[in-house]
Amino acid sequence: TKIYVPCDTTALSLGADQVARLIEQKAAEQGVDITVIRNGSRGLCWLEPLVEVDAGQGRVAYGPVEPDDVAGLIGAGLLDGQSGHERCLGNIEEHSYLKRQQRLTFARIGLTDPLSVDDYRSHGGFEGLARAAAMEPQGIVDEVKTSGLRGRGGAAFPTAIKWQTVHDQPRQQQKYIVCNADEGDSGTFADRLVMECDPYMLIEGMAIAGMAVGATQGYIYLRSEYPVAHRMLNEAIARAEAAGYLGDDVFGSGRAFHLEVRLGAGAYICGEETSLLESLEGKRGLVRAKPPLPAIVGLFGQPTVVNNVLSLAAVPFIMAKGGEAYANYGMGRSRGTLPVQLAGNIRRGGLIELAFGVPLKELLEDFGDGTATGRPMKAVQVGGPLMAYLPESQWGTPLDYEAFAELGAGIGHGGVVVFDDSVDMGEQARFAMEFCTVESCGKCTPCRIGSVRGVEVIDRIRSGENREANLGLLEDLCDTMVDGSLCAMGGMTPFPVQSVIKHFPDDLAG
Ligand code: NAI
Ligand code: SF4
Repeated sequence: TKIYVPCDTTALSLGADQVARLIEQKAAEQGVDITVIRNGSRGLCWLEPLVEVDAGQGRVAYGPVEPDDVAGLIGAGLLDGQSGHERCLGNIEEHSYLKRQQRLTFARIGLTDPLSVDDYRSHGGFEGLARAAAMEPQGIVDEVKTSGLRGRGGAAFPTAIKWQTVHDQPRQQQKYIVCNADEGDSGTFADRLVMECDPYMLIEGMAIAGMAVGATQGYIYLRSEYPVAHRMLNEAIARAEAAGYLGDDVFGSGRAFHLEVRLGAGAYICGEETSLLESLEGKRGLVRAKPPLPAIVGLFGQPTVVNNVLSLAAVPFIMAKGGEAYANYGMGRSRGTLPVQLAGNIRRGGLIELAFGVPLKELLEDFGDGTATGRPMKAVQVGGPLMAYLPESQWGTPLDYEAFAELGAGIGHGGVVVFDDSVDMGEQARFAMEFCTVESCGKCTPCRIGSVRGVEVIDRIRSGENREANLGLLEDLCDTMVDGSLCAMGGMTPFPVQSVIKHFPDDLAG
């Protein structure tokens, strides 16, 4: 019998190590022959630790399994995959939360042992790299172009155009692939899941990107708050190197690609690509003016692809199955799938990968099953702390970059944070400005000073002081920050504030 106990941060923080140890101990006591496999998470966060038992009839799941539950579950027949216990969820593949998804990028997640190269290979891994290794660089860029993939970090810029720009720079220049793994948006954890649960997918995506643009060196810029991902990536890189998927001759292609992980130091702004590059170079994370674009003058002044984890993780599927197979999913100009991370005050938080086009409401109700507190929902923030708060009238909007932009909102990195009716949206507007005061890199005035003034003006509005005049001032300040800031930090901080002014004016009044 094989027993799977996840090893990602969510499961570990809920006692998965202890659960695994207890299961092994009890099995030994009872003389039952089992193998415990530490798999990745399937992303059904509210069920973690989710233990799966394969006694020859598919993977029967139990969850959540806390250390205190182990003895009772084993008494009820967990070791043989018996389904009598109330925590038994039956065959996990049939679970509606998973069954309704369209997992292209996350197809392997939770199924495999994240560090096993054999497991990765036997689930379709490295097929994309094998194909890329036999292609001309331009052919790889064209395949990504056909897929319609747009940057999943938040800006939704066409990935192939970025790659083309780097590809077209002179060959003799040292080029770099930089993976932005500084996942800092509220409610987001998809990058972490990729790195902790399917790290070879990211490695494969980066190696393919290297072949496409002629880069021989890659860096993963990882937030220091992800120690498990750090460990997993370093181990996976070492094993991939040993197996010939990284190094001087990747996959017998005659092309080199080396990969290293670098840790950030906890600054939100280092997720902005130019301050990320400064930080990678060992300097303070100050934003650089664009142009020049990093694609032309990037890391150490060289042409650099900076892509988010999810963008690079989508590439192995695209190369293995073809760009068209990916483009067949989605709506309008939003092609392929979006890994949504459902979080905040929600009953069933987790990772949901679906083709673009699904209405937000469906995610909140069918997948999320309402708030965790059981109270009515009041607002939803999609795309991180710099994005608008959506009132109920907007929850019917399909997940599509253009449809969200029309609302003055955005999809960002796909994080969805839910708030119930006890939230004070005026406080949330203040938080947006306050967040900017803390995280601003300080380079430009509208952001550095404007956000401090923003907190003060909101405080005055909420205390009833000269309300109309101060509201006018806040609106002016928001316009100045949007128009005058150097990067998205100061330029987008007003979006949540403006959405509160528009949709929750009573809350703002304090
Ligand atoms: P941007 O629109 O300036 O750039 C998008 C990307 O396209 C950049 O990599 C840029 O260098 C590249 N690019 C633009 N024109 C190009 C060309 N002609 N050739 C080649 N490359 C080109 O957006 P930015 O400032 O990089 O990102 C803003 C977004 O970041 C926001 O929309 C927000 O959603 C997101 N964000 C994500 C966070 C996360 O944790 N994932 C945190 C904070 C913000
Ligand atoms: Fe720095 Fe803010 Fe200006 Fe961006 S907008 S460059 S974070 S001061």
